[in-house]
Amino acid sequence: MNKVTVKDLDIKNKKVIMRVDYNVPLNDSLVITDDARIRASMETIQYILSAGAQKVILMSHLGRPKGKVVETMRMNPVAVRLSEILGEPVKKLDDCIGDKAKEEIKNASERVILLENVRFYSQEEKGDKEFAKSLADLADIYVNDAFGTAHRAHASTTIIAQFLPSGAGFLIEKEIRYLSQALNPEKPYIVILGGAKVSDKIAVVENLIEKADVILIGGAMAYTFLKSQGHDIGSSRVEEDKLDLAKSILEKAIAKNVRIVLPVDHLIVDAIDHPHSKKTTADVNISKGCLGVDVGPKTIALFKEELRKAKTVLWNGPLGIFETADYAQGTQEIALTLADLKGATVIVGGGDSAAAASLFGVKDSLSHVSTGGGASLEFLEGKELPGIAAIPDKK
Ligand code: 3PG
Repeated sequence: MNKVTVKDLDIKNKKVIMRVDYNVPLNDSLVITDDARIRASMETIQYILSAGAQKVILMSHLGRPKGKVVETMRMNPVAVRLSEILGEPVKKLDDCIGDKAKEEIKNASERVILLENVRFYSQEEKGDKEFAKSLADLADIYVNDAFGTAHRAHASTTIIAQFLPSGAGFLIEKEIRYLSQALNPEKPYIVILGGAKVSDKIAVVENLIEKADVILIGGAMAYTFLKSQGHDIGSSRVEEDKLDLAKSILEKAIAKNVRIVLPVDHLIVDAIDHPHSKKTTADVNISKGCLGVDVGPKTIALFKEELRKAKTVLWNGPLGIFETADYAQGTQEIALTLADLKGATVIVGGGDSAAAASLFGVKDSLSHVSTGGGASLEFLEGKELPGIAAIPDKK
């Protein structure tokens, strides 16, 4: 990555404001259910502290409060968890700009400050310059380590870089390093795509079809591809308006010499919740009244066989409704296979596949699990992310 990083900045005795993505999942009691994004920011925070910064001022959004103060979206639970992981006190402020915040930062005995949710101000998502300047006024240096929000051209992710010497944190550096390998892979390169909708992945498929050797498709998006080929898919989820597109992707793959491998059997039920019947299909077709909820055993075996040949694997999207234990086998077996691959770089796009990697306990055995859902998708589509573009190039 040819961008200024935190290591290039002179941060001794400086106040460093750092954008992190602490948009973490919370349950109804406001308990954080996955703190991976907080953990992922540790390396940069520790580095800034050890390099002698006067203060690290962290800022993030949490949820989508739409420019209003929403009590359940305050950063308080994050501050508690952050302090536990960091092993030192964190001062949480009730605002993210203004004289009071400045004063509190100045008087704080703590080295680490966490600002209130930046999306409590509507100016954040509008990329408002004045608001960005007010954030910049709190510090001397800006570091962006919020990879998960790097696809948003918001005040705290992008515009603020106009007002302070700026650089990327280690998480952004690592994400770019690995996700770039998915765009310039060592071959054979196998891409696994899943998830509910073809429409979410079109741009990724179109970009990766230029680079992949094999694309394995599972999840509900596979039913749209299968229907476009004339197979019976029963009442499985399908995007009728994307059938032509699915067909043209399959044709394009043939023209490019890329093999797209679709499921050859399925786990089917008569209803997702409380099914009376649950069985594996004999072949690719799904009978009337039934719907697919996972790939079947022949498909799992076929996908595993393909994966054994890979030098690079990108996995984006689950192969079934893995959140329900009865429908999780396909996603789980692929996760375990990826964890066991020898000599291959395995990159997992964020979002649901990252959650699956966590659930099945393989996260630490994979080369990289992205902290960005939408951000990693846009990166894989070949787009430039505004949060990264805003960081100056290395001289
Ligand atoms: C995410 O969770 O994908 C990021 O934090 C971005 O959140 P957003 O989609 O609300 O902008």
